[in-house]
Order: sequence, then C-alpha cells, then structure tokens
Amino acid sequence: MTVLVGYTTVEGQTRRIAEAIAKRIEAKGERVALLDIGSNAEYELERPRAVILCAPVHTGSYPQPFRRFVAQEKDWLNALDSALVSVSLLITSHDAEEKAEAMNYPDALIAESGWLPRQVHHAAGALKFAEYDFFKRWMARRVLAKDRSSGKATVDHEFTDWKALEGFVDEFLATTGC
Ligand SMILES: Cc1cc2nc3c(=O)[nH]c(=O)nc-3n(C[C@H](O)[C@H](O)[C@H](O)COP(=O)(O)O)c2cc1C
Repeated sequence: MTVLVGYTTVEGQTRRIAEAIAKRIEAKGERVALLDIGSNAEYELERPRAVILCAPVHTGSYPQPFRRFVAQEKDWLNALDSALVSVSLLITSHDAEEKAEAMNYPDALIAESGWLPRQVHHAAGALKFAEYDFFKRWMARRVLAKDRSSGKATVDHEFTDWKALEGFVDEFLATTGC
C-alpha cells in the first residue's frame, strides 16, 4: 500500500524535505504519493497505509491551507498511522525559550484541528535572504534576533539535518509495519 507524503511550502524548503522523505520511503521498497496540499489539486487516491504531513512555520503558525486540510481530513488521518514534520528555524535556537516555542508549534495545530499525529519530527528549515522581500528579511531577522551568536542572522543557509530526517522516516516505517 501507498504512503502519502503531503506538504505545504512557502519558500520551497518543505517541498525539498517532503521529496527527501518520499525518496527514502521508495528506497525502502514502499510506494509513495507526494501531494502538494497548497496546490488545490484533487487528492483522490486509494486509501494510504500511512501518512506523513510536512509544513513550515511562518510568523508563528503553519500556513492556512495546511491547517484547513488537516482540520477537514482529521477523521481519516486519525484512523491511520500518521506523522507531522514541523519545519521551523527556532528549533535551531540556542535560547531555551525559543526552542520551547518551536517544540510547541504542533500543539496549537493539534488543538485547533483535532488531528492527533502519532509522531512529530522537528526539522530545521532554511534561510534564503537573497530571495526575500523587505518584509520577509525583517521577519527572518526577528526570528533569529536572540540567536545572533551563531552568526546566521543575515546569511543564506540550509539548516536541515538530512540524516536525522532519514532516521525519522526509518523509525516511522518500522513502527507502522511498512
Ligand atoms: C517571513 C518568515 C517568517 C518566519 N516565521 C517563523 C517563525 O515564526 N518561527 C520559526 O521557527 N521560523 C520561522 N520562519 C522560518 C521558516 O520556518 C523557514 O525559513 C522554513 O525553511 C520555511 O519553509 P518553506 O521554505 O517550506 O516555506 C520564518 C521565515 C520567514 C521567511
């Protein structure tokens, strides 16, 4: 049976993460359906065996199309093995309060939607200052304001730990019996 990997992205990093997850699942011999939740495409597919949904945090929450999808689909999501991959930058912070904030992003989604993912993986996202407009640059600097010590406040950088992501996928597949 198929594993559904759904994602929403604003800047593209969560798509890269979802694609890496799909590749890993295929490498393990499972079939994958990759779904861009923000595309409004029809998502009629055979009932998947398990689901991994990936979404980035922008200004403190996940994008609206993702939150709507999860709330609408919670009943069948809850009937399956499912996982959330939460993509953020504060998860890389050395400040305990900020890190706790990043760890808590999924709680708000779970509370408002009623979806109960069996597993949550926190993946660090990316900074793409060269592609941001003025507002986004300002927002991204604010996100990193307390963490200047790492020197990453104004430089494009990908923080995603691809090995940790693969480890999560392997563990998820093992627990779902795929
Ligand atoms: C305008 C803007 C706002 C952001 N707000 C947050 C935030 O509130 N918390 C956080 O941890 N990361 C925040 N980030 C970092 C994003 O989660 C990170 O850049 C991620 O890689 C974006 O994923 P995407 O490329 O799939 O959209 C923000 C990034 C931008 C550009």
